[in-house]
Amino acid sequence: MSQLDLLNIVHRPRRLRRTAALRNLVQENTLTVNDLVFPLFVMPGTNNVEEVSSMPGSFRFTIDRAVEECKELYDLGIQGIDLFGIPEQKTEDGSEAYNDNGILQQAIRAIKAAVPELCIMTDVALDPFTPFGHDGLVRDGIILNDETVEVLQKMAVSHAEAGADFVSPSDMMDGRIGAIREALDESDHSDVGILSYAAKYASSFYGPFRDALHSAPQFGDKTTYQMNPANTEEAMKEVELDIIEGADIVMVKPGLAYLDIVWRTKERFDVPVAIYHVSGEYAMVKAAAANGWIDEERVMMESLLCMKRAGADIIFTYYAKEAAKRLR
Ligand code: PBG
Repeated sequence: MSQLDLLNIVHRPRRLRRTAALRNLVQENTLTVNDLVFPLFVMPGTNNVEEVSSMPGSFRFTIDRAVEECKELYDLGIQGIDLFGIPEQKTEDGSEAYNDNGILQQAIRAIKAAVPELCIMTDVALDPFTPFGHDGLVRDGIILNDETVEVLQKMAVSHAEAGADFVSPSDMMDGRIGAIREALDESDHSDVGILSYAAKYASSFYGPFRDALHSAPQFGDKTTYQMNPANTEEAMKEVELDIIEGADIVMVKPGLAYLDIVWRTKERFDVPVAIYHVSGEYAMVKAAAANGWIDEERVMMESLLCMKRAGADIIFTYYAKEAAKRLR
């Protein structure tokens, strides 16, 4: 008997795939509803929702309707939301971002009062709050770093005052995690955590999100602060710095195209790792499904499971509700 024949007799990997029971028994990774965070867009007004045209099935909510949505999310077992707001007005100094009666601050208070157990995370960045659509303050076409960080500190503190459990800086300014940690501690919010968008790439997958928030950059792009998709070492450095500065959870963003970064982050660091299944990824699945080209539900569940396999502990996804229903 040849060596090859012998190998074939001994090793039959298909034995473990023969029945559903066997496949279930040897399954290595599992997606659960506890892994999911729902990104939620709030807008001014009352009793209204608007579907985002480039994100079918995703909506902007007025605060009262966002509260109803949060009750539903929590009833489905979803543990967390990430709040994004469309302000009443955009100003060059971004001051609506830290208005104690701003859109996010009001939303946090209303949701906390109605669904206190739900973990409220809040986006900390200036893009919806200035006319420029950049994550930081702008002067002479330059995105300012340290001046922006001061505004982000105020924004984070005002979210904490309103009752946020976690703040999520998504701006990619240098030094903002340490500065926000300090500002939170000094204002007596040492229990409010920081989920840092640590390895955030300058990605073309964010387009539909910018439609949702009316926050597309009005000039240039975000490549002077978000990372080059070609780089990995740089991501490790960003993650390391954010952990040193006090991040409790680090995020890699976007999702599917960046699973190698999730894997390397998880291998190298001992903190929870989040991944953001971003708007463009969602929109692509929706579009293909609408054409009858793919099975939406299966593609959704496979995508989320693969993020788990790559090492993500937490998944931000617009599919959180559908996935939660499916997982029940
Ligand atoms: C901006 C922000 C963006 C996203 C989350 N926070 C867009 C950007 O950086 O331009 C994208 C999320 C998505 O595409 O779903 N602070």
